[in-house]
Amino acid sequence: MVGLGPKPPPSRKGTGHLSDIPKDLKKEIENLERLFTVDQTKLKAITKHFVSELDKGLSVEGGSIPMNPTWVMSFPDGYETGTFLALDMGGTNLRVCEITLTDQKSEFDIIQSKYRMPEELKVGQSEELWDYIADCVNQFIETHHDDVSKLDKLPLGFTFSYPATQNYIDEGILQRWTKGFDIAGVEGKNVVPMFEAALAAKGTPIKLAALINDTTGTLIASAYTDTKMKIGCIFGTGCNAAYMENAGSIPKLAHMNLPADMPMAINCEWGAFDNEHKVLPRTPYDIIIDNDSPRPGQQAFEKMIAGLYLGELLRLIMVDLHDNHETHIFANQDISKLRRAYTLDSSFLSAIEEDPWENLQETSELFNEKLGINPTHPELCLVRRAAELIGTRAARLSACGVAAISIKKDYKTCHVGADGSVFNKYPHFKERGAQALKEILDWPDKKDPKEEDPIEILAAEDGSGVGAALIAALTLKRVQAGNLSGILHPENFV
Ligand code: GLC
Repeated sequence: MVGLGPKPPPSRKGTGHLSDIPKDLKKEIENLERLFTVDQTKLKAITKHFVSELDKGLSVEGGSIPMNPTWVMSFPDGYETGTFLALDMGGTNLRVCEITLTDQKSEFDIIQSKYRMPEELKVGQSEELWDYIADCVNQFIETHHDDVSKLDKLPLGFTFSYPATQNYIDEGILQRWTKGFDIAGVEGKNVVPMFEAALAAKGTPIKLAALINDTTGTLIASAYTDTKMKIGCIFGTGCNAAYMENAGSIPKLAHMNLPADMPMAINCEWGAFDNEHKVLPRTPYDIIIDNDSPRPGQQAFEKMIAGLYLGELLRLIMVDLHDNHETHIFANQDISKLRRAYTLDSSFLSAIEEDPWENLQETSELFNEKLGINPTHPELCLVRRAAELIGTRAARLSACGVAAISIKKDYKTCHVGADGSVFNKYPHFKERGAQALKEILDWPDKKDPKEEDPIEILAAEDGSGVGAALIAALTLKRVQAGNLSGILHPENFV
């Protein structure tokens, strides 16, 4: 930025001087706008279908959305105490934390280490994955405890953020890999013994207390400090939500004879919404993403929203406009780097959307550095508009999920705790989501812009760390109180 002086305030939200853009490029922009815009009527239609699919997921027959009971059966009261380990196996990183829930209401201390999840492991062998995870946990314990051999077994909350069937809180039968993972021999199996075997092989002193999903952790951690929190969401590498249901409204658990008003957190796994492709406005680019993914036909909703796919959508658009259209963007340039699938992540779109310069200087530099391409100004304008359309569509579609749970549960006002890289870092994601919620739920205009929306999506507490520790604490509390459903195997009930 040398020589350009201080950054001017962003003078506009949209693309620069569309009037400078040649007609053929303008036509392409209009085409993208047609493909990617989700208007109010469509948002409402998607939400309506979403509500019925949430119900279907809870029914005995089931549907596309798994609606997994989690055996998390209460909110914390703020007086949970103890020291717990939490392991977060997300889509991108691995994190190990030690959390102490202190005597002070809703207070905690945390120490943590982050480890990269190597790309090869995501598509490698099962044993290598568990061995790597156990190594990270081991390393963490050895770094933070002097004499590991004298250590009592620490209770661990394992945040395993993939769809898993849980008959008990300490099991997780992987339904299918999501977020680009593809490791043979794990789907259909309980991952807990695999993880425990890897730990035992290293002599790591740990007792798994609970396996949780990141959304459930987010819900519980957020409710710990804000009692208005009713939904926990992740908008990150993947996209999903959890909320508290009553056992009596979960027909597929009827055989357990739980009290009808007993709370039960449900991990929706809403990424699988509309796998039948009935309502989502999929573009040809979405179809390519799906076909080329390790699990075609799965996670239809997630593939239009989550961070893992936003960069790929933009890349596919650009390659298409280079190869197949009359416009031939980036003509006579070497686009070999751009041809590599998943070469762009959502931070590339964030940077484009955040470029404050009228001439899209930063975007131009980014293309240069990352892709070896020198776009013309009109091409930069097109790319900027494409990024806006992709980011806006993601935010608006995700609002359909939040609206659907709110309608289903008749929540007129509440807080929704959200976490994940897209929610925390993608520019305008929150505002765009809030605008879509307003359109779906027909809220009147605010009198004062500072006023809260009836349903407000807020940055969550750390679900996979503190949430996991809280769930481990709540589980131990339940054991002490003798409420063992979802903890003990029925044959062990006396
Ligand atoms: C994917 C996973 C889900 C997780 C979400 C966010 O959708 O299937 O379990 O909650 O990503 O990480």
